[in-house]
Amino acid sequence: MSTGEGAVGRGPSSCRRRPRRLALPPALFLLVLLAGCGPMSPLDPESEPARRISVLWWAMLALATIVFGGACVMLIVGWFRRREWGLPVLGERPRLFDGSVVVFGIVIPVVVLVALFAWANVAMVQETDSPPANSPAMKIEVTGSQWWWQVRYPGTTAVTANEIHIPARTPVTIVTEAEDVIHSFWIPRLNRKVDSLPGHANRLELYAEKPGYYRGSCAEFCGQQHARMGVAVYADPPERFRAWLATMSRPRAAPASPLARRGEQVFMSKQCASCHTIRGTPARGEVGPDLTHLKTRSTLAALTIPNRRGYLAGWVADPQSVKEGAKMPALDLTGPELQALLEYLESLK
Ligand code: CUA
Repeated sequence: MSTGEGAVGRGPSSCRRRPRRLALPPALFLLVLLAGCGPMSPLDPESEPARRISVLWWAMLALATIVFGGACVMLIVGWFRRREWGLPVLGERPRLFDGSVVVFGIVIPVVVLVALFAWANVAMVQETDSPPANSPAMKIEVTGSQWWWQVRYPGTTAVTANEIHIPARTPVTIVTEAEDVIHSFWIPRLNRKVDSLPGHANRLELYAEKPGYYRGSCAEFCGQQHARMGVAVYADPPERFRAWLATMSRPRAAPASPLARRGEQVFMSKQCASCHTIRGTPARGEVGPDLTHLKTRSTLAALTIPNRRGYLAGWVADPQSVKEGAKMPALDLTGPELQALLEYLESLK
């Protein structure tokens, strides 16, 4: 390898290569910075709690920059005055207590860090306050499982998965628990994260100032497919939310075509019904998501793939190639059975 590099170094291309190598660290740094952008940026808040978190983050960055800048100034001053200061000699007191050392090395860091510590602690106490259990706000129960989220609307029969609808400009209390291991529910643009624990309910307020789509994710490592445990909040205008909730509360629409009816038979006779619930049918499984209104969701497998026929076919036929380790097994279906099943699942609106 060294021979090759040496040969390149002597050649005319070396001038072109070096700037490229120099550009690599800043490019990587920029890439890391940009990774924080996108639909899950806490610095693009759409609610009051998320805004306070974002302000605290910027303040921490600004103050940390001051401390870092002070340290850099000290370094530069030290470099230029190194002869004057000399190297400390054993037994001799080093002349380090120069005015700039005291200001940049002691006063600024102490003042800044103490202020930041106090602010962050006050903010943390405020932000981690759960909404009271008797709060009149609408409650939504969100249960984390490896690796998806079940979503229930108490007081109704509505059950869905991974895609939570809430009314915009209305406070909503999320009550979250876990089925198996610890997960963490996090919609960065609406609020902080909150742990979903087995056997203990945590509460969090969600309030979206504007209707829209708010992407979130599991924020606690929970196994092989932790990264594919997405969650999304759709903040709908209140009247559209009420219509959605009314639809979700209904049992499934009876299959209209012979092919879809055949699909329902396939669903009931294969393992599907032992793991999934379809209200209005004998399928009462609780291992996987409720599929009563599957077609109202825009994604499958916790936001892993779009909810379109081709993807659905792939997911049903070979789930492990889409999400390895998921509890969904591959079913031994014939071509016509798969086609009928897809027709049926696509009719669950
Ligand atoms: Cu669930 Cu990470």
